[in-house]
Amino acid sequence: MNSSQLSPDQLSTYLEVATTAALAAGEVLQACWGKLESIVEKGRPGDLVTEADKQAEAVILEVLRQHFPDHSILAEESGQFGDLDAEYLWAIDPLDGTTNYAHQYPFSAASIGLLINGIPTVGAIFDPFHKELFRGAVGLGATCNDKPIHVSAVDKLAQSLLVTGFAYDRRETPDNNYQEFCYLTHITQGVRRAGAASVDLAYVACGRLDGYWERGLSPWDLAAGVAIVEAAGGRVTAYDRTPFDIRSGRILATNGRLHEELSQELLHVAKIEHWSWL
Ligand code: IPD
Ligand code: CA
Ligand code: CA
Repeated sequence: MNSSQLSPDQLSTYLEVATTAALAAGEVLQACWGKLESIVEKGRPGDLVTEADKQAEAVILEVLRQHFPDHSILAEESGQFGDLDAEYLWAIDPLDGTTNYAHQYPFSAASIGLLINGIPTVGAIFDPFHKELFRGAVGLGATCNDKPIHVSAVDKLAQSLLVTGFAYDRRETPDNNYQEFCYLTHITQGVRRAGAASVDLAYVACGRLDGYWERGLSPWDLAAGVAIVEAAGGRVTAYDRTPFDIRSGRILATNGRLHEELSQELLHVAKIEHWSWL
């Protein structure tokens, strides 16, 4: 089964349930805002978890299990339920942008994605601070607060606004995206580091941003946003334009028009030996 074999009604059903779960999680995120009692590092320095992450995840799991008891789930805080290679796998991030949230920087979202045979197909991302609900399904199109959205028309990197991020292992690896960030800042109109991968992807989908790249991500960061970008007419691949693999943690997502140029520049950065141009 793939998305083209599913009827629009089936895809809409998945989208509605993803939406219910994202909105329910958003209520939890709003209720806990500014009242956190527990903010702890769960592994690497800076990788935080709070009671808001856990409570939001619990309500999402409840909604998904009620509607699709046979589907597998990969949830950031509670782990894996069922087979990761199952035909239907929900990848959920109850609070994407925990660092922002813990500092009361209002840029975070709940992100619910459905992979069908490993392909991100349906997504709902709810940012409760801006009251924006991004949704999409491959083949059905994408919306923000029920209005159709589309990727931007910018076709030159020199005229683009991009976004990226830095994974929690950034202190441990030279492959930490710092050089890519400097270089692309130099040759574009700007590169944002907003702190929530799902919202970064949603902003590419609606044309506020023209492209996004990042490494060191998990399936729950990406599943919903990838489906929404593709549903909005964008393109998602690996840095070298080979097919996107959600388990690689590495993504290049653009409006399509910039894809080749941004891919070439990302590959070029790896070959720069002297940074005297900075
Ligand atoms: C993080 C955010 C951030 C990205 C990190 C992610 P979290 O997710 O999406 O933008 O740069 O790599 O881990 O931990 O806030 O759910
Ligand atoms: Ca995340
Ligand atoms: Ca998270």
